[in-house]
Amino acid sequence: MSNSLITVAYIAAIALFILSLGGLSNQESARKGNVYGIVGMLLAFGATALSSQVTGYGILISVIVPGAIIGAILASRVAMTSMPELVAMLHSFVGLAAVLVGIGNYLSPDPALVGTEETIHLIEIYVGVFIGAVTFTGSIIAFGKLRAIISSKPLMLPARHFLNLGMLIATLWLGFQFMTTEVPHGLQPLLIMTGIACVLGLHLVAGIGGADMPVVISMLNSYSGWAAAAAGFMLSNDLLIVTGALVGSSGAILSYIMCRAMNRSFISVILGGFGEGASKPAAKGEQQPAGEAKATTVEETAELLRNARSVIITPGYGMAVAQAQHAVSEITKILRDRKVNVRFGIHPVAGRLPGHMNVLLAEANVPYDIVLEMDEINEDFPETDVVLVIGANDTVNPSALEDPSSPIAGMPVLEVWKAANVVVMKRSMASGYAGVDNPLFYKENTQMLFGDAKKNVDSILVSLRESKGTSADKVLVAS
Ligand code: TAP
Repeated sequence: MSNSLITVAYIAAIALFILSLGGLSNQESARKGNVYGIVGMLLAFGATALSSQVTGYGILISVIVPGAIIGAILASRVAMTSMPELVAMLHSFVGLAAVLVGIGNYLSPDPALVGTEETIHLIEIYVGVFIGAVTFTGSIIAFGKLRAIISSKPLMLPARHFLNLGMLIATLWLGFQFMTTEVPHGLQPLLIMTGIACVLGLHLVAGIGGADMPVVISMLNSYSGWAAAAAGFMLSNDLLIVTGALVGSSGAILSYIMCRAMNRSFISVILGGFGEGASKPAAKGEQQPAGEAKATTVEETAELLRNARSVIITPGYGMAVAQAQHAVSEITKILRDRKVNVRFGIHPVAGRLPGHMNVLLAEANVPYDIVLEMDEINEDFPETDVVLVIGANDTVNPSALEDPSSPIAGMPVLEVWKAANVVVMKRSMASGYAGVDNPLFYKENTQMLFGDAKKNVDSILVSLRESKGTSADKVLVAS
């Protein structure tokens, strides 16, 4: 394939990646965004494979085919709730690739690069290998924490910040050695730095608590993008530079949005503050429940819904685990047929990955226009008859706003307790991801519907179906 044709293919792929990101920002266009991404990637891959630089097709096929098969099997089998783990694992591959590309590039220098160009190239290699190594081990630790192979508690070594600082200073010093030594003798400082960066990545992420892992994953996503961009500079591949920059900046923006949704400062997340307190379950005796939780039944909940004029459903991680979204969608349909104003309130970090709830609800064909973001719906709770909290906990926890000593203090939450009636569906009184007790369960207007969300939602559906058409005279529930 001629160089100009490859350039055209790369520009088309870049445009498709940008369209893909645009599409993925909205549920209605997400499918289309996905297709753009797939086509862009096929185009990028095809053009690269057909370029004149690629000659070893035997090797290429022998690594691509098994890689593609393993990737396809893993991706098709992974549960939505385990997606962050898969993403963490994939980031580690990007980091490792950047390290290998950097070392390989250093060992096969381009004789055309001299003077300033050579210096810039060496800086690209050094920085690329550093970011790649941090991403590689950091992602493996994040994977281990999410999988619960490694304790989610932050590792608090004494003087850990000095340890990190020491490693950074050593990296700078080795960088000076690397730059001032003739190729290929700089390999030694490069490899030592790689080892130090691996330890730094490991230590940085090990020091962050489980509750902050979502932000860490998106931060590592950003790092992996910058590592790919650095590899693009090393290989003089414009497509890799642009794609890496897109991933790097979108990961950084996502980290910022998530930090805002959890009322966390990005820096304190990186330094591992919140996880320390939040990931450890509240000690016995702390955060005494204020009152008594009242249990309710499927029949009583169905009756509340039959009499309601406005209902808000706030789903959380438990709905995803129980896979209750299809039955929830059916209930929504029945209530809407009865002219009940049903809407969904989605917290930005509900579930275990950004947009988790939106994906599940879209899969269950819930109309997009009734799925509202937290900021869009929070003011409507006081005028709502019934709120169904389905497997959500931290995202509806009033202590975030009412208790300044709470580990989640300041995190914006769905203010469900302002509604006339709140039914919380979960299996027990256990705390959520952040390990914080939830005073919502003890509020006057809250009732607990214990049990698996799918089982309970199915039973409510049966009850509503049985009574379909028999409750034309609606009475507004306690207002
Ligand atoms: P959580 O606070 O994690 O609470 C989920 C609740 O679901 C649990 O209390 C659990 O209570 C219940 N549950 C589990 N399985 C269930 C089942 N089969 N049926 C019924 N209930 C079930 O959920 P949330 O409100 O969605 O908040 C998300 C949390 O995860 C936040 O702290 C957030 O920071 C964190 N996080 C978010 C992300 C992103 S980006 N979304 C990623 C990682 C972590 P029982 O055990 O009593 O049933």
